[in-house]
Amino acid sequence: MMDLHRSLKWWIYFLLCAPLFGVSYGELRYVLPEEMNRGSVIGNVALDLGLQVSELQARRARVVAEGTSQLCELDTASGNLLISQRIDREELCAQANSCILQFQLLLEDPLQASSLVLDIADINDNNPEFATREIKLDLVESTVLGRRFPLECAHDPDLGTNSIREYKLSHNDHFALEMSSQINGNSYPELVLKKQLDRETEAEHLLEINGIDGGYPVRSGTAFIHIRVLDANDNVPIFSQRLYKASVPENAAKGTLITTLNATDFDEGIYGEITYSFSHLSDKMGGVIEVNPLTGEVRVAGVIDYEEASSHELGVQAKDGGGQASHCKLVIDIIDLNDNKPVIEIKSASSNIAEDARPGTMVALINIYDMDTGNSGHVICSIPDNVPFKLVSEVKNYHMLVTDGILDREFQPEYNITVTATDSGSPSLSSVKVITLLVSDVNDNPPTFTHYVYNANILENLPVGTLVIKLEAQDSDDGTNAKILYHISQDTNSELSSFFTINQNTGELFTSHTFDYEQSAYFQLKITAQDGGDPQFSSTCTVNIFIQDQNDNGPVILYPVQTSGFIAEDVVPIEAPGGYLVTKVVAVDADSGHNAWLSYRIIKATRSNLFMADLHTGEIRTLRTFMEEDEPKHTLVVLVTDNGRESLSATATVSISLSDGMPVLSEFYEFADKSENNDNLMFYLIIALSTVSFLFVLLISGVFYFNFCDHSYVYRSNTSSLPVFPTTYCTSTLTDFSRCGTLLREDRYDPFMTTGSWRGDFRFGSNTDTDILKKRSAAYQKNTLRRLSTERPSLKIRAGPTHPCYVIK
Ligand SMILES: *[C@@H]1O[C@H](CO)[C@@H](O)[C@H](O)[C@H]1NC(C)=O
Ligand SMILES: *[C@@H]1O[C@H](CO)[C@@H](O)[C@H](O)[C@H]1NC(C)=O
Repeated sequence: MMDLHRSLKWWIYFLLCAPLFGVSYGELRYVLPEEMNRGSVIGNVALDLGLQVSELQARRARVVAEGTSQLCELDTASGNLLISQRIDREELCAQANSCILQFQLLLEDPLQASSLVLDIADINDNNPEFATREIKLDLVESTVLGRRFPLECAHDPDLGTNSIREYKLSHNDHFALEMSSQINGNSYPELVLKKQLDRETEAEHLLEINGIDGGYPVRSGTAFIHIRVLDANDNVPIFSQRLYKASVPENAAKGTLITTLNATDFDEGIYGEITYSFSHLSDKMGGVIEVNPLTGEVRVAGVIDYEEASSHELGVQAKDGGGQASHCKLVIDIIDLNDNKPVIEIKSASSNIAEDARPGTMVALINIYDMDTGNSGHVICSIPDNVPFKLVSEVKNYHMLVTDGILDREFQPEYNITVTATDSGSPSLSSVKVITLLVSDVNDNPPTFTHYVYNANILENLPVGTLVIKLEAQDSDDGTNAKILYHISQDTNSELSSFFTINQNTGELFTSHTFDYEQSAYFQLKITAQDGGDPQFSSTCTVNIFIQDQNDNGPVILYPVQTSGFIAEDVVPIEAPGGYLVTKVVAVDADSGHNAWLSYRIIKATRSNLFMADLHTGEIRTLRTFMEEDEPKHTLVVLVTDNGRESLSATATVSISLSDGMPVLSEFYEFADKSENNDNLMFYLIIALSTVSFLFVLLISGVFYFNFCDHSYVYRSNTSSLPVFPTTYCTSTLTDFSRCGTLLREDRYDPFMTTGSWRGDFRFGSNTDTDILKKRSAAYQKNTLRRLSTERPSLKIRAGPTHPCYVIK
């Protein structure tokens, strides 16, 4: 066997297409004999394609069959193309002149498709064979010399010289064998009578006929001719045509008439009765067509498939009742119908494509073919218009599916691309195949916060770890590209950023510091959300945090100074009328709003009903004129309470002594003697009102100023000295900003209600440190005392304007 394919290998290799899209095509052609042993080497594909053997394995080289069965395989270890199944040329291609098998050699990464063409050469592997081992012939003894009797040909499926070459007849006296050639080139062995038959001497003759082929080695087949000598049957059936030709569409219904054979025999009676039969019927045709022995009608009996064979050549025989037979050929052409759908085969496809893939990136290689011929085998391939892909065909029957536009996973993460192949037959047939393609994510979207600015309120004094706000950003990417980490932005002041911590995964912002409203009431943080992609994207939002006041500071008495052992005495003229201003208890509360709204009550007095404390101002006035029995020294205990939910309080001890050498100042008892001071009062009122109006204008300007200023956060001034009179408007970051709550937020007005009186209004806004307060108030007290005693005559009304925040309310 091995010597049969020694010199048969040659190959043609040419590149059809430069690796324009990363795919190249070529063709390899091998000529090989049929019937090679399984595992025989056809050729070395690696060598012939100029590839490294190692490359074959790495690029998953494989042989794919197009419709046919897998007759050869690739040994990736050696690069050899091996026979993997028996190849019988006669079975694959019947009697066709050339027998070509098409395969594809596919390599991946980069994709390369090469056409493998196997040209199967015939070998002499079949013996000539007679349809019947014994040919019966009945001859009348009167048969004239030279009379020819056509014999059935021996059948040899091999081609050319491997087919029948000659016939030999065994030695005998009466018969010779001659070949008769027919018009279509077919030749038949014919038995020729050479010597007169005599039934009386020899009633039977047994001859042996050998069909010999021209192959190497020679093969032959034998049949016996059994001749009976009869009395009289003078005529042989004669076919009306020497060759019958007919055509029938494939898939024709059973019983369809193909043709009618017609032979005549001029004998009478039984010698003239003709029966028709096939003299040789191949396995393929067995059961597919049948002949009516009496009428000679040839009809369809099974399934006729053009793709199986396009034409059939059959031997037919007409035999009379006397055993005389003649032979003839019937050629049936099969008409192709469009009975095969186009075939779509995905030769290579990636199931993922990155959303930033450049237009023209190949996604799949599709092989499309149709087993039909002509128009029925002409296939048009298409995909829908509404997908960003297109088909590119560089090689017949091969289509590349490539991207044709911008992909966006956020817009469409998955494509089902329907590939439709339609042939041009009538009616046309089509097939579809769906290629599912997932678009993989690329980090092309930044995280986004729902709002640019978030506001949060927390109470002061809350423990460390209190949740302030939960921030959430969205990222429309996928996977780690959408995994958001939160952190406090680098832009934020480092001291401030140490006051808060953020859970980087959940976006929950916690305090890491206890806040004191009296120290700072407002913070502004910038929070950055960053995704996990490469490159990373981030976005930032602003968080305003407002600290809300709690009543955590008690009132602090500034005057009179409450030091143990020494209490400053206030002196009142003994002639003072009822309603005379004796002194004033001055207290402050570091809280704001209601929490700092102080009220004053006398809870203990040396003599009751002599002095009264103004609930709001803390002014101590006489209720009546002094009398003889009144003690010269009085001690009052004034309770100062704030207005918080759980109010805090302090007591002030006021010491008052009566003096008879002091002048009575009219400014101190306007309540008792209003009429005398009405003019004066009106004058001050006018001044006060115009001042208020002026300040209101300034305040409005201040409101605008602050609305458009961006202050990260504001500390209260530590530098302004006590006592601080109400600031007229908010000018800078050093201003007691928190007191202007209405400027920041509507729900944080701070009505500072200690200003019950239009004069004597003391405001303390800055320092909460009680020690400093005490020290400073001592200094203040000394100052005030000195002023009260030395400058009393010129002490005028402190017409402090109403607090601007209060006005806003
Ligand atoms: C058969 O052939 C003969 C002579 O060739 C003709 O007369 C006869 O009509 C034919 N019969 C049929 C059925 O065609
Ligand atoms: C694609 O087809 C699959 C399976 O039939 C289906 O689950 C999926 O929803 C389809 N996708 C689109 C985008 O139509």
